[in-house]
Amino acid sequence: MPARILVADDDTTLQRLVLHTLKNEGHEVIVVGDGQQALDKIESDKPDLVILDVMMPVLNGFEVCAHLRENPATMTLPVIMLSGLGQVQEKVTGLKAGADEYLTKPIDPRELAVRVEVLLQRNRVLRASATSKAGNVISLIGAKGGVGTTTLAVNLAAVLAQQGKSVILAELRNDFGTLSAQLRATPDKGLSDLLKMDAGAITDRVVSSHLYATHFHVRVLFGPQQADAYGNLDAAHTGAILGHMMTLADFVLIDLAPIASVVTETAIKSSNHVFVTTEPEIASVAATTLRLKQIADWASNVAVSVIIVNRQGTMLLALREIENRLGRRLAGVVPPSAEALGVAIQYGTPLALYQSNHLAMSNIRDLATRLAANQPLTPSA
Ligand SMILES: Nc1ncnc2c1ncn2[C@@H]1O[C@H](COP(=O)(O)OP(=O)(O)OP(=O)(O)O)[C@@H](O)[C@H]1O
Ligand SMILES: [Mg+2]
Repeated sequence: MPARILVADDDTTLQRLVLHTLKNEGHEVIVVGDGQQALDKIESDKPDLVILDVMMPVLNGFEVCAHLRENPATMTLPVIMLSGLGQVQEKVTGLKAGADEYLTKPIDPRELAVRVEVLLQRNRVLRASATSKAGNVISLIGAKGGVGTTTLAVNLAAVLAQQGKSVILAELRNDFGTLSAQLRATPDKGLSDLLKMDAGAITDRVVSSHLYATHFHVRVLFGPQQADAYGNLDAAHTGAILGHMMTLADFVLIDLAPIASVVTETAIKSSNHVFVTTEPEIASVAATTLRLKQIADWASNVAVSVIIVNRQGTMLLALREIENRLGRRLAGVVPPSAEALGVAIQYGTPLALYQSNHLAMSNIRDLATRLAANQPLTPSA
């Protein structure tokens, strides 16, 4: 199938060879002579594959590749690097920068043609499977800490899985969250391992192999489990991990720490939907107002739903009053379920499985059903 391929190389002999080879295969070829032109053309002409020489003026091939991998729009663009440098170290640098293939000069035209074809085909398959997954990303964040965000995330994930959806639940935070304790899991792999890798080297397969399979058919990416494994999750890693998770499931639920950080910001910017959890009392509602403002500043178009978790069983503020203070309708109320949750945690299982007919679950199931059907979560007006 003909594709559009960008070739960035300042060596005119090689340019001609590559151009000739690819045109023979029926591809459309765009040629540029330096790294900056390559980035500009990739943005404007959106090629299906890129061939980069390592040694180029302005930006070298490694630098161009690293830029591509940091940008969500080009994160999965297939990249072949060409170099006269045959050393293993150079090859490793290229692969770490995120190149899919590394070919050393002199280039054999037949080998180049085959590599291009294989990469294009792989990307077509990946894209097809990505679109077959809904790739819905939902962030959950508390207006403040301890309001029941993780509990909601676990049960929403479990219910979506019960409804036949493929679901990933990811704890994207730099320090310990309570997900493993809630599930009584002792994960031997997770986010900390991904943080040790270069963002460009993280692939869908790598992400998939770090997911923990639970008994309720949700795959979980656990956050750091030990203080000495606490990480420094930057935008590039967050974007790469999320970008790949989207292609692996119908729904990706992200359990975020209730703090402003580059992780939280990147996750929210990549989400289709954000759930803000809060409690029915004055201070929590005030914190909710600030959280909503923060989210709107980061991502003005993302759909946001506020969920009240009534842990105490006393509505210190009436729902109408909360809605007035927030200037918006609420998407749902999770009733008190401390006792049932306590037992479910002892068994390391979500309430959705332990007591699927609990009142709290019928509300969460309703949210999941509307999410899966792509219906609005908040009543209009
Ligand atoms: N609907 C509920 N009724 C009663 N208790 C609840 C409810 N939901 C959660 N809880 C309890 O509240 C406590 C905090 O829950 P959880 O860990 O889910 O909150 P969190 O907002 O994720 O906290 P953190 O800020 O530490 O991440 C837990 O003991 C949990 O069992
Ligand atoms: Mg939590």
